[in-house]
Amino acid sequence: MTERTERSEGREGMPSRHGMTEGSPTGRAVSRRGLLTGGALTVGGTLAGAGAGAVAATRTDAPAVRPEPVPVAQVGDAVEPFHGARQSGVTTEPQAHAAFVAFTLKPGVDRAALGRMLRLLSDDAARLTQGRPSLADTEPELGLLPARLTVTVGFGPGLYAAAGRADRRPASVADLPAFRVDRLQPRWTGGDLLLQICADDPLTVAHAQRVLVKDSRPFAAVRWVQQGFRRAAGAEPGRTQRNLFGQLDGTANPKPGTPADTAVWVTDGPRWLRDSTTLVVRRISMNLETWDLLGRADREVAVGRRLDTGAPLTGAAEHDEPDFAALGPDGLTVIPDFSHLTRARVTDDRLRILRRPYNYDGAPTAEGHADSGLIFAAYQADIARQFLPIQRRLAERDLLNEWTTPIGSAVFAVPPGCPEGGWIGEQVLG
Ligand code: HEM
Repeated sequence: MTERTERSEGREGMPSRHGMTEGSPTGRAVSRRGLLTGGALTVGGTLAGAGAGAVAATRTDAPAVRPEPVPVAQVGDAVEPFHGARQSGVTTEPQAHAAFVAFTLKPGVDRAALGRMLRLLSDDAARLTQGRPSLADTEPELGLLPARLTVTVGFGPGLYAAAGRADRRPASVADLPAFRVDRLQPRWTGGDLLLQICADDPLTVAHAQRVLVKDSRPFAAVRWVQQGFRRAAGAEPGRTQRNLFGQLDGTANPKPGTPADTAVWVTDGPRWLRDSTTLVVRRISMNLETWDLLGRADREVAVGRRLDTGAPLTGAAEHDEPDFAALGPDGLTVIPDFSHLTRARVTDDRLRILRRPYNYDGAPTAEGHADSGLIFAAYQADIARQFLPIQRRLAERDLLNEWTTPIGSAVFAVPPGCPEGGWIGEQVLG
């Protein structure tokens, strides 16, 4: 039997290929209680204690129906709008590839210079997103396949100061407080301006990035770039994406067009604020090596959902409502109080955030250690009202913290969109 089939057919309590009990890398049974009290990891990242119990009878069946692939020709030609009241790239169905490019404004770049830069970038984006090369494009052939390209512009706190427009900075667009779990590195943190470039084709993203960076050069220095990916376009249409822990990631997101969608956009106020949103970008390293040491049941307990279907531990299907009060035979709640699901849970639609994360996967070290994680991108009308309470709860207690570490953090306002002939930021800077 191959390693792959052996793993996927493993059942809790059955011997694994190492002759150990499935559910614990050491063969010792794993403690549910140990997980709950937080101090679950011992030397080497293994879990201590006894009795994973009846918590999560692991279901590993593959989905019965294979999704229909999208014909390849549609992928390159597909177009997302650039002009409109709201910027694209927020509630747009996430594309397969993304580059988040943050800039530091050069000294002396004032409101007039910012206006020149943003006119230029808006013109580039308006053309490239519609499958037209930018003005004086040095590789015009690379501008012809938009592949649902979106370019979303974000303003960091420093941009408002440079523009002399501190009065138009949304109050919650300010450096986040420090969290206990943070190990932030300057090379992934902060930024005056952000371009979130997304498309279903990586060459389209690369070309757009090159054009936009080139045209920003007189005004701003590149501060950091984070490149990420999801499933290829058409690989699993309509399915929730998976992150590198193998989890379905995005299940409980507000769906466009539902009341929860109003949590994403500012729907009233002055013209420079209405139809805007805010973006938090956190680079979160995921320790795949210690995660690999966990048995499947423990991985599911850490999040509160099953790995195969994404169903809550108390349900059968991905979108079943979790039952946080349900008790297992051991008298403990089936979904642990410190699971990611319980801690991140939001029931008030107005307090939801829209997660639009991308996986990153850097080159492993010579010793084979992974550099993998999540470019966690969350959109919400107000960071202080929506994002911060969730982040505080997670930083305080979340079983996933054992295997995840935030190493970068930045916040941006995403100003309203612009009509044809207009430019992003004109309402803010005008
Ligand atoms: C590497 C870090 C992270 C991983 C691997 C991760 C993974 C997951 C998974 C698998 C789910 C369950 C499925 C779903 O609803 O999408 C989930 C839910 C959620 N996560 Fe995370 N997450 C991470 C970080 C964060 C952060 C930093 C926040 C916010 C500060 C967050 C907020 C949420 C929210 C709001 C939910 C939905 C909870 C609900 O059911 O209402 N996550 N996450």
